Amino acid sequence: MNTSDWWRAKRVLITGGAGFLGKHVVDEVRIRGGGEGGGEIIIPRSYDFDLRDRQVCRDLVQGIDVVIHLAANVGGIGYNLQHPAELFLDNLLMGALLMDESRSAGVAKFVGIGTICSYPKHTTVPFKETTLWEGYPEESNAPYGLAKKMLLVQGQSYREQYGFNSIYLLPTNLYGPGDNFQRESSHVIPALIRKVIEAADAGEMEVQVWGSGSATRDFLYVEDAAKAIVDATEIYEAAEPLNLGSGSEISIMQLADTIVELCGYEGSLTWDRSRPDGQPRRSVDAAAAERAFGFLAPTNFRDGLAKTIDWYRIHQGDID
Ligand SMILES: NC(=O)c1ccc[n+]([C@@H]2O[C@H](COP(=O)([O-])OP(=O)(O)OC[C@H]3O[C@@H](n4cnc5c(N)ncnc54)[C@H](OP(=O)(O)O)[C@@H]3O)[C@@H](O)[C@H]2O)c1
Repeated sequence: MNTSDWWRAKRVLITGGAGFLGKHVVDEVRIRGGGEGGGEIIIPRSYDFDLRDRQVCRDLVQGIDVVIHLAANVGGIGYNLQHPAELFLDNLLMGALLMDESRSAGVAKFVGIGTICSYPKHTTVPFKETTLWEGYPEESNAPYGLAKKMLLVQGQSYREQYGFNSIYLLPTNLYGPGDNFQRESSHVIPALIRKVIEAADAGEMEVQVWGSGSATRDFLYVEDAAKAIVDATEIYEAAEPLNLGSGSEISIMQLADTIVELCGYEGSLTWDRSRPDGQPRRSVDAAAAERAFGFLAPTNFRDGLAKTIDWYRIHQGDID
């Protein structure tokens, strides 16, 4: 298929399209011809269009062919611990209202974006989609992970009762250029890069890192995730959720050592074991996405990390 034909003349709503993942998804849709031939890409900003409001959702989806719902209230472990109530309600409301109004407005395809934080705290690694309901998520990210998981239930129910074409993808931990480097809400990779580069610039010889370093994560480069989301939007048409991950499992200690090396930092790391590790192990089985639409994450982790560090060095002066 000439994929640009798929996007041609379609009106595409990309919520969260100005966010970290969203910018890469918008770029990929544009590369494939989105917005051309009388089509349009609409990127609603939260200050004009608060998706927790039903009327806002209703107005936004009129005449829309495709919704890619990326908007969310998101943060790292510290942010999750401080904002559990907002993380639960904001994400639940945005997803539920937007999908309901999309169904009423006759949207032809709805792409829901889930999260690895929806998986049970303890389950077989690598995580398979069939184990999603086998237990409660790790406590610090349960309000966020469970609120987002309701979008899967809603999509499956709407497909069953209304024939609504909703799909649901579960990306693992993302990283890459344009990530959120804010102190209070960043995830582990931007937080560590920032700490190490700031310590190096200030001539400090020690960096303190949260937790024991033993937890593991499966890090997916953001451009690989964006391509997968756009491929799935074009090709995937079924109710079952699909994982998007790199298939590799890296400990936070390995990650931190790699960042120290790539940044050329000569100081040392100390581990603050009084701080939480989060979920003990994470790695996903992405074989179902490979079967469904040929997904394979091509970016090597060190290369992706080096690009992320380069991006931060260029932009660090613009970040508070
Ligand atoms: N980052 C990860 O590691 C990761 C991993 C798995 C899944 N995900 C999922 O991927 C998606 C994007 O995450 P991200 O990391 O790119 O987050 P992000 O940079 O924080 O982007 C989220 C966007 O959501 C929008 N938003 C938040 N509240 C809103 C509201 N009330 N009304 C309208 N828009 C609102 C914001 O728009 P404004 O900029 O206009 O305020 C923001 O740009 C989320 O669904 C997240 O759950 C992320």
